[in-house]
Amino acid sequence: MNTYAGKSAVVAGGTSGIGLAIAELLRAGGARVLVTGRSGTGLAEVRDKYDLLTLRSDATVAADRAELADRVRAEFGTIDALFVNAGVAGAGPFEQVTEDDYDRVFDANTKAPFFTVQSLVPVLAAGAGVVLTTSIVNENGLPDLSVYSASKAALRSMARTLGRELLPRRIRVNAVSPGPIDTGILQRSLPIEVAEQMIAGYTESNPMGRMGQSVEVARAAAFLAFDATFTTGAELAVDGGASQL
Ligand SMILES: NC(=O)c1ccc[n+]([C@@H]2O[C@H](COP(=O)([O-])OP(=O)(O)OC[C@H]3O[C@@H](n4cnc5c(N)ncnc54)[C@H](OP(=O)(O)O)[C@@H]3O)[C@@H](O)[C@H]2O)c1
Repeated sequence: MNTYAGKSAVVAGGTSGIGLAIAELLRAGGARVLVTGRSGTGLAEVRDKYDLLTLRSDATVAADRAELADRVRAEFGTIDALFVNAGVAGAGPFEQVTEDDYDRVFDANTKAPFFTVQSLVPVLAAGAGVVLTTSIVNENGLPDLSVYSASKAALRSMARTLGRELLPRRIRVNAVSPGPIDTGILQRSLPIEVAEQMIAGYTESNPMGRMGQSVEVARAAAFLAFDATFTTGAELAVDGGASQL
């Protein structure tokens, strides 16, 4: 399958879960793909295993974002797709949230994506697609997710505003909005009993009676980046119907 032959892409936050699934899908289709992450170990693993280009880059650090833009320029000249996928879960019951929790989640999920797009706009080819990873919780009021949900709601808004501002450059900006996806992010980000309780609840309440797989989100993200040529400012849910049924 050479669906993406001749294309190049960056997945910011691409060493595990949904981001890695996007990178794998595009690479299997013939694209050249650069993934970022903070952990050197994760990067070394995926570079060899999946034949990906890698850069250790923390999206919350301005110097790292500038270095990413330089590397993209040197490696590709311009890219056809940018997936802004890195994000963290958190931060617990409303009354226990600290200012540090709030800043950490908004830094990672809202500020870093905004400035990642800004840093990489100069290396986005005309006609390129940007895909932001939001979350279906940005639309409802689930407990313990006040900060996370708000951070993703702000990001959803940016798909609209950046979509508008980048239109003159022929760059489309859309969001893919996962429901509960089995990537381990909850277990890594929350106390294990809270994570397990949430997973059981999601499975039980989901119209399809299961959690989603990363590749199911990856297919939707690739569609938005490459095939949805008359779509910008939109958000596509990948959630087993949870947000609609
Ligand atoms: N899983 C779900 O159920 C679900 C549902 C809705 C939305 N989402 C969203 O989907 C996205 C991916 O989630 P996931 O479950 O696939 O998570 P994951 O498995 O933890 O993957 C996150 C990826 O982002 C990287 N990353 C995290 N912070 C970073 C930073 N500051 N700079 C650069 N890279 C960073 C991680 O690598 P390092 O740790 O090495 O940095 C990793 O490669 C997130 O935005 C998440 O909020 C997930």
